[in-house]
Amino acid sequence: EPTKAWSGRFSEPVSDLVKRYTASVFFDQRMWRQDIQGSLAHAAMLAKQGIIAQADLDAIRTGMAQITQEIEAGRFDWNLDDEDVHLNIEKRLTALVGDAGKRLHTGRSRNDQVATDIRLWLRDAIDTIIGLIRDFQRALLDLAEHHAATPLPGFTHLQVAQPVTFGHHLMAYFEMLRRDAERFADCRKRTNRLPLGSAALAGTTFPIDRAFVAAELGFDEVCQNSLDAVSDRDFAIEFCAASSLLMTHLSRLSEELILWMSPRVGFIDLADRFCTGSSIMPQKKNPDVPELVRGKTGRVNGSLIALLTLMKGQPLAYNKDNQEDKEPLFDTADTVIDTLRIYADMMGSTTAADGTKVFNVRVKAEAMKSALRQGYATATDLADWLVKRGLPFRDAHEAVARAVRLAEQKGCDVSDLTLDELKSFSPLVDESVFAVLTVEGSLSSRNHVGGTAPEQVRAAIARARAGLAG
Ligand code: ARG
Repeated sequence: EPTKAWSGRFSEPVSDLVKRYTASVFFDQRMWRQDIQGSLAHAAMLAKQGIIAQADLDAIRTGMAQITQEIEAGRFDWNLDDEDVHLNIEKRLTALVGDAGKRLHTGRSRNDQVATDIRLWLRDAIDTIIGLIRDFQRALLDLAEHHAATPLPGFTHLQVAQPVTFGHHLMAYFEMLRRDAERFADCRKRTNRLPLGSAALAGTTFPIDRAFVAAELGFDEVCQNSLDAVSDRDFAIEFCAASSLLMTHLSRLSEELILWMSPRVGFIDLADRFCTGSSIMPQKKNPDVPELVRGKTGRVNGSLIALLTLMKGQPLAYNKDNQEDKEPLFDTADTVIDTLRIYADMMGSTTAADGTKVFNVRVKAEAMKSALRQGYATATDLADWLVKRGLPFRDAHEAVARAVRLAEQKGCDVSDLTLDELKSFSPLVDESVFAVLTVEGSLSSRNHVGGTAPEQVRAAIARARAGLAG
């Protein structure tokens, strides 16, 4: 029976079940790089402060270099008996370099060590995610630019409301993603603070230099209270909250792609490689990727609730409950990273032999347009037109509603009514009214920042491109 790092106080070993139940090494080993990085910074500080000898630091560096090689090569013997990533690495270090390895943990606890590892790990994950959001945004911009003037029914209550352009619609998601990236960047600020030096909970009796360790590890500042530093995981919760919002946005987009791809709507088609077939129904082409994104949003929301619940009953300072923070956190980062990658690809394009862009989202512009015609989408434009000729808006609303009813009876669009028919609803009507009843007229007249006029959509895309570059 190998001895545990803490077994000196105990009269009997833990049972196999307890060992397995309390161990985290099979999921926290993915923080091995951060663990070594943190240990090297801590050791360098100990040597600089004269707490360990330079020879000890040299030995620790040599040992950690070998351990790095072993792990990278898949030769490292991860052992359940050594509980977690921290003790596994420390034990191997001591086997390699002897007493220097045993001195590494001076002035440190696994409590501040693990908090440091998670923050280092999450900082990298956040940077990856922000980069992937940008990639996806670039793909969206290309598609939006291509469709800056392509008319699409805008919906409220899933009923045709007013014409918008497909580019304008996509740019709504661009804006959501912009805020998502801001949230991750903000969360990074609070993640990037150093817990090391807090030791178990109260600090340490050794003359440590926390600012040095922070600088070595690229932290912006040190955590100001040792009890708080070892125990709170609010930065991880914030990360999961930002992830939940991001996934919520992607889930809404997924829902739209699924709806648009339904043959009953038929606004788009997705490239085959993002869809799957049915084992029984030969005709099927199912939008599995967006469906899974919608489904995985539930999983990410679940992790957020798991972490909030994990934290809410914990007295200060560290409790073993916190070991349960890792799986939801890792799973959330993995899910978000994979989802962003696949989305950037799915909404992206390939370049054909003749140099033209072929988008993976194939837009069926005719279907979008005919849905607009069936939905009286320019009724508001007609009402606005009457208001501009002096009719109070409520009266204009009433007149147009009656015109829509007539069109409905006749089974045509308002723009198909005759001049005389339109005049019967208001004497203000003349020939020039037909210009505002067209989809193009409706679109181009909403010409202000935030409006759907193609000119404005192009301006929004240009601003967005500049923002991404800057
Ligand atoms: N594996 C532990 C965790 O993930 C490391 C800290 C353990 N500290 C302790 N005193 N048991 O939180």
